[in-house]
Amino acid sequence: MSKELDEFKSKCDIAKVVSHYVSLEKVGSNYRGLCPFHEEKTPSFYVNPDKGFFHCFGCGAGGDVIEFVKKIENISFIEAVQRVAELCGIDPPLMSKDTFYVKYTSLMEKIAANYKSVLLSVRGKKAWQYLSKERGLSKEEVEKFTLGYAPIDSDIVRRSAKELKIDENTLIKIGLLIRGKNGRLREFFRNRITFPVKNSSGRVVAFGGRALNDEEPKYLNSAENKYFSKSKILYLFNRNKIKDAGFSIVCEGYMDAIAFHRNGFENACALLGTGVTKFHIEILKGVTRNILLVLDSDNAGINAMKRAAKILANEDLNVKVLTFEDSKDPDEFFSKHGKDGFREILKKAVEYWDFYVQKSLGEVGDPIKALFRLRRSISWMDSSVLKRQLASKAARILMMEEKDVMYELQQPLKEKKEESQIKHTENIQLNVDDYIVYLLFYSDEMRRRIVEHLEEAIISPFAKKALNIVKSGITSPQEAMRLMERGEGERFFQIFTKGIPDSNAEKIFELCVSKLEERKLKHRIEKLEREMISTPDAKLKAKLMKEAMELRSLLKRKGGASHGRK
Ligand code: GTP
Ligand code: MN
Repeated sequence: MSKELDEFKSKCDIAKVVSHYVSLEKVGSNYRGLCPFHEEKTPSFYVNPDKGFFHCFGCGAGGDVIEFVKKIENISFIEAVQRVAELCGIDPPLMSKDTFYVKYTSLMEKIAANYKSVLLSVRGKKAWQYLSKERGLSKEEVEKFTLGYAPIDSDIVRRSAKELKIDENTLIKIGLLIRGKNGRLREFFRNRITFPVKNSSGRVVAFGGRALNDEEPKYLNSAENKYFSKSKILYLFNRNKIKDAGFSIVCEGYMDAIAFHRNGFENACALLGTGVTKFHIEILKGVTRNILLVLDSDNAGINAMKRAAKILANEDLNVKVLTFEDSKDPDEFFSKHGKDGFREILKKAVEYWDFYVQKSLGEVGDPIKALFRLRRSISWMDSSVLKRQLASKAARILMMEEKDVMYELQQPLKEKKEESQIKHTENIQLNVDDYIVYLLFYSDEMRRRIVEHLEEAIISPFAKKALNIVKSGITSPQEAMRLMERGEGERFFQIFTKGIPDSNAEKIFELCVSKLEERKLKHRIEKLEREMISTPDAKLKAKLMKEAMELRSLLKRKGGASHGRK
């Protein structure tokens, strides 16, 4: 098998496959881009077409073309081979199968079929009544979407497993059987309408289950495992239909996706109860650059669409947003206005960033405040081209001069309110100043070195305060904590308890030094770019651009060498 596989791989163009998902630039004999497997702002993801592998210096991800597709599509090895073959336009090699995957998906498919039979039998009467009377679904549609019903006293999983000779322990491991409080085994889905969820190869890897009554939670998803992760999958995602339509629709709910498909919009898919993630975007990007977000029109849905900004900010995608005035979600909209109604309202979709600025303006009620908020929320936006596009849109909506808006958007953020971030995240992201704070309380020697070499570079008020405390002679973290305000104290505590993964002080010190150099470089680049944008002199512009680019590549080289902390 490995001979066939090696031959196959040698025929694949890894750069071509990767560039399907990541935009790459050529550097020497390699390609470089932003790593799709971790968040980063300067590219440390490399593809070597000669040797046929990729490597990210930031997160350590790496491997061959098959590994790449497997990881990015979150599919099995076998499927990745198929997909690579498809992307390269060559025949896949003949191979033996990932046996557990085949077993797992066959089981899921058998269960789906059995749930469906139950739905259409006497046992599923109540569920079928609900689906037909209240949701207007037909038997053909139950067939088409393989909807089903897991009865209250469900034995469907066990029965299906028996047919495939899969034992109980496996079912427990997969999460389809769980042990109740009384120690008895019971099936995970009970008294729920079931929606099989297929991966990008069309194999069933999970279920969604909707409660029949007002039971909580309303929706339940299968447990996550090697083949199923809800943040990496889209319900009813159909590559070909999206390709045909030229755009994809992303909605929130199982029933919404079904409503779209029933009404002829088979390019729609649904999130599985998560926000829009970068994995979703990667999946969609593999097919189209045109995305229409139609999440629920309530506050939660609108906020989820706004939160997507973080993921969309550095993507060169054409994203639009559609909200309804008289319906909470697409399902309700279709039942009120039908497909023609949707076709009509489709024209009213607004460009994503227009929607974003408009919403911010609506929320704060004042253009200046909205602009400040916008500045804060796009601080992760890298590209000055995208920033400029955004500035021009924002200027129009806020009725301000474009150059004023651009100027504001280019201003660096003041670092503050660190405490508010802590409350939301378990795993805090430490910045250089936090590492310095850690070192300040590490040893006399470290303190001395920091005061000597790094003092000037400290910028956050939090780290400055820590420095002053240390300088006043207090060197025990416990005592220092008492002198801090509540939020600061919390951060301080986190740094010392779970923040630092590896407590080799020497290494951290070096990391701080190099990070601070990076920071200085970044400031210089930003300054150059600001000058570049504001000067009308074309010659000077070119000169500044060249300088900025040189610094950027220097920065990238540094970034590559000093990574490894994540
Ligand atoms: P219907 O009442 O069936 O029309 O559902 P809906 O689509 O209007 O549901 P809602 O807007 O409440 O939820 C949208 C999506 O969020 C669902 O399809 C689920 O994927 C997810 N979701 C909703 N409620 C829950 C929950 O209680 N738990 C989990 N895990 N996901 C949920
Ligand atoms: Mn609904």
